[in-house]
Amino acid sequence: MFITLEGPDGSGKSTQINPLADYLKDQGYSVLITREPGGTPIGDQIRLILSDLKNTGMHPRSETLLFLAARAQLVEQIIRPHLKEGHVVLCDRYADSTMAYQGYGHQNDLEQIKTLLNFATGGLKPDLTLLLDMDVEEGLRRKAGGSEWNRLDAYSLEFHQRVRQGYHSLAASEPERWVMIEAGGSPEDVQAALRQVVQDRLITPVGS
Ligand code: TYD
Repeated sequence: MFITLEGPDGSGKSTQINPLADYLKDQGYSVLITREPGGTPIGDQIRLILSDLKNTGMHPRSETLLFLAARAQLVEQIIRPHLKEGHVVLCDRYADSTMAYQGYGHQNDLEQIKTLLNFATGGLKPDLTLLLDMDVEEGLRRKAGGSEWNRLDAYSLEFHQRVRQGYHSLAASEPERWVMIEAGGSPEDVQAALRQVVQDRLITPVGS
């Protein structure tokens, strides 16, 4: 099973992913955690270019293609081989981030982005996507000043609001794949909600 975590900046995905993996491991699953952009030596180099606050002149199309390049590498080098061996793969961001940020955020043509995504991933889609939803300003406040603050965080508030709305539209268009979780509460509450979803979808699948 391929599970992705999505959400606006500061929604706490990175805090939640390790305890979620621990929970799955406790249930007897072999779990691989990875993240985007990055997750491979080549992807990590691309991540540095994307994040660098000095790269203010980066065109949105260049940005889009760099995310896709990192993803193509991650899919072929890490994700597909692990899925094939029967692992659960938990990924902190995936193709939906490109739809939300480069599509809705930058207001690029969504159909073109979908075509590019299909090329980059070879058509690999998640089985389950967990959307950690929260107020955009609150999320940016959580991240501001921290060492993780990057070039994309510095985009306008309106950009980040379009990203959040984009996530809502994506989730509504494929309700069988997405589950939205309110991420403004305590980390413990968010973790409990995530575990419940995974428990329902993976550990006790429908019909069993
Ligand atoms: P990161 O510090 O990993 O943020 P987070 O912890 O919120 O995931 O930085 C990744 C940034 O890149 C984040 O602002 C989201 C953005 N992003 C895109 O714009 N498009 C993408 O396809 C991906 C994977 C990430």
